[in-house]
Amino acid sequence: MTKNAARIDNIIKRDKKVFLALPRVPYPFVVDHGDGDFAYDVDGKKFIDFTSFIGVYNMGVNSSAKVRNAIKVQVDKLMHNALLEFYSELPVDFAELLVSMFPKGESWRVFLSNSGAEAVEAAMKFSNLFTKRYYNMAFYNAFHGRTKGALSLTNSKVVQREYFGPFAQGTIHVPYPYCYRCPFKLEYPGCGFACVDYIKKYPLSKEVNPKEVAAFFAEPVQGEGGYVVPPMDYFKELKALLDDHGILFVADEVQAGYMRTGKFLSLDNFGVKADIYTMAKAIGAGMPLGATIVNGKFGDIPAGSHASTFGGNLAVVAGAYAQLQDVHKNWREIEASIVAKGKMALRRLKDMQERYEIIGDARGLGLMLAIELVKNKSTKEPATKERTEIIKDAFENGLLLLAAGQSTIRLAPPVTIDEGVLSKGLDILEASVKKANANMLGN
Ligand SMILES: Cc1ncc(COP(=O)(O)O)c(C=O)c1O
Repeated sequence: MTKNAARIDNIIKRDKKVFLALPRVPYPFVVDHGDGDFAYDVDGKKFIDFTSFIGVYNMGVNSSAKVRNAIKVQVDKLMHNALLEFYSELPVDFAELLVSMFPKGESWRVFLSNSGAEAVEAAMKFSNLFTKRYYNMAFYNAFHGRTKGALSLTNSKVVQREYFGPFAQGTIHVPYPYCYRCPFKLEYPGCGFACVDYIKKYPLSKEVNPKEVAAFFAEPVQGEGGYVVPPMDYFKELKALLDDHGILFVADEVQAGYMRTGKFLSLDNFGVKADIYTMAKAIGAGMPLGATIVNGKFGDIPAGSHASTFGGNLAVVAGAYAQLQDVHKNWREIEASIVAKGKMALRRLKDMQERYEIIGDARGLGLMLAIELVKNKSTKEPATKERTEIIKDAFENGLLLLAAGQSTIRLAPPVTIDEGVLSKGLDILEASVKKANANMLGN
């Protein structure tokens, strides 16, 4: 029993009464403050953060003192700037630096909004506008946001869509290269990318004339759907098919982007360029910011065709710019350190996979890591209840974790995490996995 257990209970009871239900973790975490690798509850109890607060604090919990100070200074000067009508310099500085980190040899134009869903909505509209086409394609198991347009692309859980239809008409879903649970029951690389072949032979041959498809939306690494990493040459195959038909490729970098996978853009790991990118979460350094970045070759959009009152808000952009300046300055060192820490962590997860029946798959790219839990390695029956046990037990022992997909635990610590703290967090995770594994096997 903690000293503030009654207060924690009370806050949770009041929360449940006043707010409409939210997904929520299966443990009573009432956050008070945080710093760097750690978050603290209202009891002062310290937790190692393996969530980055849903992929937002990639550069450390509560961001740096420099970021916070930039926000404070801007708050005293001017918060809201009405970027859709008036000009201001800070958003220009920020957008110029942002596009300087995008693939070379192209020009890029930016639209700023307030969230991932808004960034995706803008990408949907822009791709319609640029191509004068109507259909969109996306993956099963995808998560692109919860507004009605973005939700028509989202396909990771029925509860997210139930009773919310009809959705944007003309949305076609196809299987993601989720090799651990290949819908075609094939194995990579022997499969010869049957999943790309399927897109060619079925939706694009039987359902729709490819000339009518505006854009294909993809998370380069699926987030909410289970931290699923495709084979490294998958997107080259897919992009070649899309290019044959003039279908735009939209990379949703909202969760996988901003250094999470060891590159600024997660798609850069796969050696292809998108026509449009969406970013949010970590780009705002803890403040609400969305960005839709389009290839300049498409030209402009008609003034007034799309806009946002708060997009490019000065208080928000002040923090985002301060953070991006640091990321840009230390870009290559940050990348190298993520790759090194990610390799160490993935080695440990793979080692756990060998030793515990309950871990069916261990995967990841950079510090976007996951274990997928199963009741039996052969049948791959999802161990959803056991996942909850592990997440709760880890919490009791000072580690914050989030679920993803049906039976996956995602590990997304701040990419700046100290290697010793990362190891400590993995120790806690392993102890909880070991316990759940023994319970499951009846030992
Ligand atoms: C890949 C991806 N796209 C879009 C979104 C939606 O972002 P937001 O919740 O900011 O609207 C999310 C949120 O988790 C996401 O992971």
